[in-house]
Amino acid sequence: MSENLYTTHDRLVNRAEHETQLEQHGQVIWFYGLSGSGKTTIAAALQRRLHEGGRHAVVLDGDNVRGGLNNNLGFSDSDRHENIRRIAEVAKLFTENGAIVLASFITPKRDLRQLTRAILQDDLTSVYVKASFETCQQRDPKGLYAKAAAGEVKQFTGKDSGFEVPIEADDDVVIDTEEQDLAACLEQAMSLVKEV
Ligand code: ADX
Repeated sequence: MSENLYTTHDRLVNRAEHETQLEQHGQVIWFYGLSGSGKTTIAAALQRRLHEGGRHAVVLDGDNVRGGLNNNLGFSDSDRHENIRRIAEVAKLFTENGAIVLASFITPKRDLRQLTRAILQDDLTSVYVKASFETCQQRDPKGLYAKAAAGEVKQFTGKDSGFEVPIEADDDVVIDTEEQDLAACLEQAMSLVKEV
């Protein structure tokens, strides 16, 4: 597939040049967890904080990416795999251009998280946004838990499609949105941003 591709890297502004100009380190903070756990709320608050501090941060989340780039994908295991693969590759392109990417995706299985690590390597900080199914069901900000309970959403994460909580060996950061308020979660997320 790749035999007739010619890279343009030598002609483009390189990563170090972008990072010097932007005064930031290209990186990805990938928030994963159940729908309603608080991933996008934290990512949006962090983006705002970084923006106010003169940083360029890009938020990618399930609802925006699935509306365009990935609008041909559903919620089967194989579609979720392709969803995550494409997003990780897009995030890589952004980091090569010096951006701070805040990715917010359920990323329900350990093999999907391993895929993001394989693609993004040391540029990735992986963060489990922790809240139980019961808590997310009570919050239900999009009404999806109610719909899933009524049988109107199939393959719903945590109901008829699995979510694997991380194990200690995964060595991921945990932000617990049941135990902490948003301000504390934001401080924790802010501490993960690697400075140049
Ligand atoms: S992932 O599993 O492939 O990582 P992703 O984060 O992109 O999922 O998309 C999840 C978003 O899609 C949820 O926030 C929710 O708004 C919406 N959604 C629609 N159907 C489902 C479903 N069956 N399971 C989970 N989320 C769903």
